[in-house]
Amino acid sequence: MAGVTFSNLSKSYGNVPVVKALDLTLKSGEFTVLLGPSGCGKTTLLRMLAGLEEVTEGEIAIDGRVVTDLHASERDIAMVFQSYALYPHLDVAGNIGFPLEVRGLPKSEIAAKVRSVAGMLGLLELLTRKPKQLSGGQRQRVALGRAMVRDPKVFLFDEPLSNLDANMREEMRSELIRFHRETGKSIVYVTHDQVEAMTMAQRIIVMRQGSIQQNGTPFEIYKQPKNDFVAQFVGSPGMNILDTDFAGCLRLGGAPLTVPAGFDLSGGQVAKLGIRPEDIRLGTSATTEASLSFPVRLVDVQPLGATMIIDLKTVGGNLPLIALAEWRDPGISPNSEIEVVVPISAVHKFAADGVRIC
Ligand SMILES: Nc1ncnc2c1ncn2[C@@H]1O[C@H](COP(=O)(O)OP(=O)(O)OP(=O)(O)O)[C@@H](O)[C@H]1O
Ligand SMILES: [Mg+2]
Repeated sequence: MAGVTFSNLSKSYGNVPVVKALDLTLKSGEFTVLLGPSGCGKTTLLRMLAGLEEVTEGEIAIDGRVVTDLHASERDIAMVFQSYALYPHLDVAGNIGFPLEVRGLPKSEIAAKVRSVAGMLGLLELLTRKPKQLSGGQRQRVALGRAMVRDPKVFLFDEPLSNLDANMREEMRSELIRFHRETGKSIVYVTHDQVEAMTMAQRIIVMRQGSIQQNGTPFEIYKQPKNDFVAQFVGSPGMNILDTDFAGCLRLGGAPLTVPAGFDLSGGQVAKLGIRPEDIRLGTSATTEASLSFPVRLVDVQPLGATMIIDLKTVGGNLPLIALAEWRDPGISPNSEIEVVVPISAVHKFAADGVRIC
């Protein structure tokens, strides 16, 4: 089985660094997601691994073998590109089966493999269509199928679900998880969608501006974000980050905040408090847990169905705060003041440079 190692890997375009001295080992057989905002270097990293982009410095190894200078065709990887292209003259079956055709596999074997993959991707009805007779989402699934028929050391997927509607994306996420479970292959999957990352990954690598921010399981990334960037990027909506300062006491956007006993301010190092929207309780509901509580103003409510997003502003500091709660009548009207309560066990603390304080 094939693990992947990047050692001191850098890539610059001219003077502009886009991947910066990256050290990373991906475990064999793991479903790894590279997650980060647009332009952070995800595709560049994947293309270097695939052998489609030269590295500026450093080394890449697959399965313990250094591949940095090997041609793409010698690396035994299958890749689905962010901007994929299908063969226009081949139908869906021909496109999916193409890599097997090239390897000269018997026709019956190709047909069986194509049907199996097309079944997973919901393409069985479309096998005789040409690409121009397909929707964007259907074409994207064909591109996915063309990789999935293969048996490489590592699968590389670059935003393979970006053109699908919400329902189809959910379905495909399940299929990819099943595909991974059944094949046991190493998968490196690129996305900027944190929901995709959380639902599919065994390991998430959060990137920003060409550097790794955190490498952990979805649980670790969500529960113990290493810095305020990861905290805000992961979660839907992301974590609230509230600026604090000290002037005799802890203040939230300038307004004094009473902290209960047991709330460690780490000698005044705490510069930002992080609160997940789902950890905010509205109103002074009785709680036995030690909690922070402070007044807020209701700005707006956005129903999502099962839940609702509640836009708030802190009173005094006027800091924006987002809460997530079961959808119901919040029982208050815009501009009215209520108290929010947050158990201190749910409050994350960050220093001025954004690094988590445990
Ligand atoms: N051939 C190139 N020449 C110069 N700059 C490039 C080139 N390819 C990519 N870049 C730059 O490198 C940075 C990283 O690009 P990359 O495509 O890896 O980002 P990404 O994380 O995949 O983003 P997205 O989520 O938008 O696909 C970007 O700032 C991009 O503009
Ligand atoms: Mg990209």
